[in-house]
Amino acid sequence: MSKVTLNTLNAYKKSAEKFAVLTAYDSTFSNVVSSSGIEVILVGDSLGMVLQGNDSTLPVSMQDMLYHTKCVVAGNNNALIMVDLPFMSYATPEQSMKNCAALMQAGANMVKIEGGAWLAQSVSMLIERGIPVCVHLGLTPQAVNKFGGYKVQGRDPHSSEQLYSDALALEKAGASVLLLECVPSKVAQRITAAVSIPVIGIGAGPDTDAQVLVLQDMLNIPEGKKAKFVKNYMADAADIPSAISNFAEEVKNGTFPGAEHCFE
Ligand code: KIV
Repeated sequence: MSKVTLNTLNAYKKSAEKFAVLTAYDSTFSNVVSSSGIEVILVGDSLGMVLQGNDSTLPVSMQDMLYHTKCVVAGNNNALIMVDLPFMSYATPEQSMKNCAALMQAGANMVKIEGGAWLAQSVSMLIERGIPVCVHLGLTPQAVNKFGGYKVQGRDPHSSEQLYSDALALEKAGASVLLLECVPSKVAQRITAAVSIPVIGIGAGPDTDAQVLVLQDMLNIPEGKKAKFVKNYMADAADIPSAISNFAEEVKNGTFPGAEHCFE
């Protein structure tokens, strides 16, 4: 596979070909993930929960994200590397520019920020200055205290309309990619059809242009109960690279997510 770029993702959207995204936080897994058919590696601030053992992503710092970005870049084999801006590191457009610049200099190919239409000015400034941006909508984990828990978003007509108009406003502001987390499948389907930029889903049904999971979740590490939208790919795989390529394959052929992984 040649180096995946934003152009590659846009071409997938145009040709209705699905692509697969997984998190990685270190060079070993970055190498395995990017060599097993995954187009985009997300250096997610989920590392605050998965690696650091916190009960939310809020304690993650810019130093943490810079360190893990460098580790992932070192092991990467041609995947596009998307990196999360941690909590409160993009509260103003100026702060976003400074922190996104540092992540890009550490080797990110795209940054991800959580929020709605209020991010439009930051998105425009970043795009104008050459930084591709993914905007994360729906269940945005950095706002867990506002939501009162990790709950499905966009279930009532008012909040689903809000998500729809945020998505359109952010596309208009220049966002390169959208990511929808934990929203009813129909809401994600409507947004994906309305925008011309790629939409990545997690717990957002089968109709988004791509699917993302947290690597440790789909490898069932640690063993035990996971969120509804997670599938345990180790259940039927001989080893980790096979589990990852099975995920990539099922995303591409549309068998993942199944109805049991979706919110209606
Ligand atoms: O931080 C992360 O891993 C994420 C995914 C859950 C989408 O944002």
